[in-house]
Amino acid sequence: MRNPAVTSGDGAAPPSRASRTGTPGRVDGARLLDRIERFAAIGRGKDGGINRLGFSETDREARTCLAREARHAGLETVIDAGGNVLIRCPAGNGDRPSKPRVLIGSHLDTVANGGKLDGAYGVLAGLEVLETLNASATDTSCEVTVVAFANEEGALFPQPFWGSMVLAGRVDDLPSDPVDYSGKPLRDALALAGGDLSDLRSAAWPPGSLAAYLELHVEQGPVLERLGKPIGVVDSITGRTQFTVVIHGEPGHAGTTPMEGRRDPLITASHAIIAVQRLAREEELCRVATVGWLEVSPNSSNTIPETVRFSVDLRDSSAKRLAAAEATLSGALASVANRGDVRISVEGTIRTDPVQTDDRLREAIAASAKDLGLAYERLPSGAGHDAQVVANITSIGMIFVPSIGGVSHVPWENTAPDDLVAGADVLLQTVLRL
Ligand code: GLV
Ligand code: MN
Ligand code: MN
Repeated sequence: MRNPAVTSGDGAAPPSRASRTGTPGRVDGARLLDRIERFAAIGRGKDGGINRLGFSETDREARTCLAREARHAGLETVIDAGGNVLIRCPAGNGDRPSKPRVLIGSHLDTVANGGKLDGAYGVLAGLEVLETLNASATDTSCEVTVVAFANEEGALFPQPFWGSMVLAGRVDDLPSDPVDYSGKPLRDALALAGGDLSDLRSAAWPPGSLAAYLELHVEQGPVLERLGKPIGVVDSITGRTQFTVVIHGEPGHAGTTPMEGRRDPLITASHAIIAVQRLAREEELCRVATVGWLEVSPNSSNTIPETVRFSVDLRDSSAKRLAAAEATLSGALASVANRGDVRISVEGTIRTDPVQTDDRLREAIAASAKDLGLAYERLPSGAGHDAQVVANITSIGMIFVPSIGGVSHVPWENTAPDDLVAGADVLLQTVLRL
């Protein structure tokens, strides 16, 4: 995968990117990799999966740790009302308000039993870039801020892109009193994380206040690995529609209630879940369709369930196709509900638009990869990212590095150390080009 351009002239093997410390114009690879491993220990479960659900205790621990590392690196941190952690150079050190502001980062929260790189890599690489610029007193043409967006995944509080929605000023599109899956209010959890639900508007960056947003992320798919290329230049990010389906039936005794006349919401749910899969697999109305979470109540082996709730996640690069898929599913849900004589409803619909990345930023990323002797490929993102929300207020660019085995949202999500460092080098060089 390595490009011959990085081989030294006398034939001796160059130091790997991963072991490199402090080369001008490059990040400190060893420091970045060490940080990634130390953050991977926060919320790690017995089987190696990371559990840092947004606004949970372990998520708070990671955020505190980030702020501490930034301070030790001589940087300043603030937490906005949405709970986003923002890191900057101290005033007077490359921080001139007249410079255009560039935001770089990602998120520290994870899905349940997730991997160590999804999100955390982009935040820690952002910190590494800012630390490198600050330590070398590089006079950049823009003022760089690193961000760790709050609750990107929405794994505990079912509002993905929480922090980026707040930063992009989309407070009216957020639920006014959000609760987590067990009914606990976000207000308290947000306050513990340093935010303030009553003051979200203070965290909005108005359009025009930000020159660009750059996000470095693991690909989470197989394309770069299959091509043997270390860098992805993202050209678009998928659209997504998510909601919860709630089915109410009639509970009863598993042994005494005749099969005839049962109103079993779990049976209806099983037909509904097949209808979700059919949207993508047979009807080809959207690219992918997933049910990943399901709750049965009372969840007792000898009781016919009373209520079933499950999530639906539809993705496509076209908002029009997503709308058509949603409408088709709505018809299918009505029909299975009718057949099962149960009540069905849809809650908490969140529609996230597909977006294109910015031409100029794509070119800057590609030129940086080329200068570093790294092969790159343009590709779309099938995963959602904070970048697509920040796109509401500024131009966005995204850099991908390969995912080993093309997998993510699993404990064994991983990327070769050299590729992790290469991605951070490209991020640094792209920032220097802006
Ligand atoms: C974010 O991780 C997503 O679900 O795409
Ligand atoms: Mn994710
Ligand atoms: Mn992510």
